Amino acid sequence: MCGIVGYLGSREAYPILIKGLHRLEYRGYDSAGIALINKSLELSVYKTKGKVEDLENYVSGKDVGGTIGIAHTRWATHGEPNSQNAHPHYSQSGRLALIHNGIIENYKVIKEELISKGYTFSSDTDTEVLIQLIEYMQISHNTNLFDAVQLALKNVIGAYAIAIIDKSNPNQLIAARKGSPLIIGVGDKETEFLIGSDATPIVEYTNKVIYLEEEEIAIMHRDGSITVKNLSNVEQTPIIKTLEMNLSQLEKANFPHFMLKEIFEQPEALRTSMLGRLNMESKTVRLSGIIDHRDKFLKANRIIICACGTSWHAGLIGKYIIEELTRIPVEVEYSSEFRYRNPVIKSNDIVIAISQSGETADTLAAIKLAKENGAFIYGICNVVGSSIARAADTGSYLHVGPEIGVASTKAFTAQVTTLTLIALNIAEEKKTLSKERTAELVEELQRIPEKINETLQMNTRIKLYSQIFTYAKNFIYLGRGYNYPVALEGALKLKEISYIHAEGYPAAEMKHGPIALIDEEMPVVVIAPKRGMYEKVLSNIQEVKARKGKIISIVTKGDTTVKELSDFCLEIPDTEECFVPILSVVPLQLLSYHIAIAKGRNVDQPRNLAKSVTVE
Ligand code: F6R
Repeated sequence: MCGIVGYLGSREAYPILIKGLHRLEYRGYDSAGIALINKSLELSVYKTKGKVEDLENYVSGKDVGGTIGIAHTRWATHGEPNSQNAHPHYSQSGRLALIHNGIIENYKVIKEELISKGYTFSSDTDTEVLIQLIEYMQISHNTNLFDAVQLALKNVIGAYAIAIIDKSNPNQLIAARKGSPLIIGVGDKETEFLIGSDATPIVEYTNKVIYLEEEEIAIMHRDGSITVKNLSNVEQTPIIKTLEMNLSQLEKANFPHFMLKEIFEQPEALRTSMLGRLNMESKTVRLSGIIDHRDKFLKANRIIICACGTSWHAGLIGKYIIEELTRIPVEVEYSSEFRYRNPVIKSNDIVIAISQSGETADTLAAIKLAKENGAFIYGICNVVGSSIARAADTGSYLHVGPEIGVASTKAFTAQVTTLTLIALNIAEEKKTLSKERTAELVEELQRIPEKINETLQMNTRIKLYSQIFTYAKNFIYLGRGYNYPVALEGALKLKEISYIHAEGYPAAEMKHGPIALIDEEMPVVVIAPKRGMYEKVLSNIQEVKARKGKIISIVTKGDTTVKELSDFCLEIPDTEECFVPILSVVPLQLLSYHIAIAKGRNVDQPRNLAKSVTVE
């Protein structure tokens, strides 16, 4: 949620910060702002409701000079999206400016106390309370800014990633984090620092980064020196790591949107994701996260998968495949529910946390709870060095490159693929699958990227069909077995980018209620491959047909039975039943993309959404 970028160095900060905000806009886009200190030591703060482009228009013709600055793109939590509530926020004296990701939970109490001491506030945000508190600490303790930040942070409850500049000292930039990620880029020019809520605004300038740890505060100086301390004032040694990202991954290439680019990247993304993990000579799977902790998996009583949204849908497919191949019972939990009830967690439970961003607050909290109760944590994340990846005992990265489109696509298919690898690897260790069957599955898994390629050839046809369905106010998605979670995922994709209401159901559940919704207006997407419960799904299709619903079917290539019953039919290549979801979801991704485009929606930045949900 929200994007942070900061710069301190010898170049003009404004173009770097604006470019950084554009790269971060996928994280939040209801308002944006920037603060710069110019040569005359004036602090200018510009902020506006709307997108980064609106901010650029707003500052046009104004003074944007300065070699130090901070900037923010917001996804509102406290206070409506408007220019007052946008970041940066000033301190009372107008000397300090701060940007913030996260939530200060006890801001009301602090605000009341500061008001009683004569402080006034111009926004409804928790962030303004924090900068006022920092200034209050500095004045009341007669101390330097770093110590004041430390004192203030000791008094706040909640999550934060912050950056602060001080017009009386334009040679220092202060940053701190707890619960929200913050990365420091150590510029190639040695005396240059960048900060970012993720690596996207940094990668163009340097690949040397420091991941700030929980409750750490960093002070960066213009001479290139940096000091990091924790809240208890103990000095920490910053470890410089190398970023695994390149700039071209952050560009749209020849695609109109990141979402379409990422849908089309899936064949290559999955090849990379499986690289080094599939052994085509022995026809086996090797994941270091499993091999290194073999005993844990052999003794595991149960696997609990924790995730949110699309990652949760991947988890549901993971349950089906892990149970089928390994016979270990699997439960799939919404992280937000799991963390707030009193779940039974035992020391021989394995928790698999799935998160593209690796920053989803609820999933992070869920694994902390599981860890406290003795469970072993396996993380499946895409973002390298993310909070969940670091909190886990072990895990597997997806390695699909940055996912910028807010609607998750390539991460989903990679999550399902990774869960498949996990299932195969455990099955081999537990000997729950014959060598021959393992070999068959491994061979077929290797063919999946090419089969996705084949599926993508339907893009033009799906685009044509999509024009027909822009009238629809509702959609139903049906699937059974492995394709029930795909129905949920198809419905979610449509909802989030086209704003059409959609429901995903296990096909057999339809007659227990949802069938009442079906009339000649209702498009019903049915995932009906030849594998699995084909005959059963066929009767579900007949039930829809009898009520005049418009049937859009996803079928196995060559199937004519379902085709004849359908108004529109999309064919996917045949594959093993457990791999069908990786193929059947692709036409659904394209369908939602094209319907949203036909309705004039901004698919990369759908309303009210942001890429990673780092608040509860
Ligand atoms: C939907 C989508 C979200 C995320 C969810 C979890 O397209 O992207 O539902 O899947 O917010 O995010 P991660 O995987 O980053 O934990």
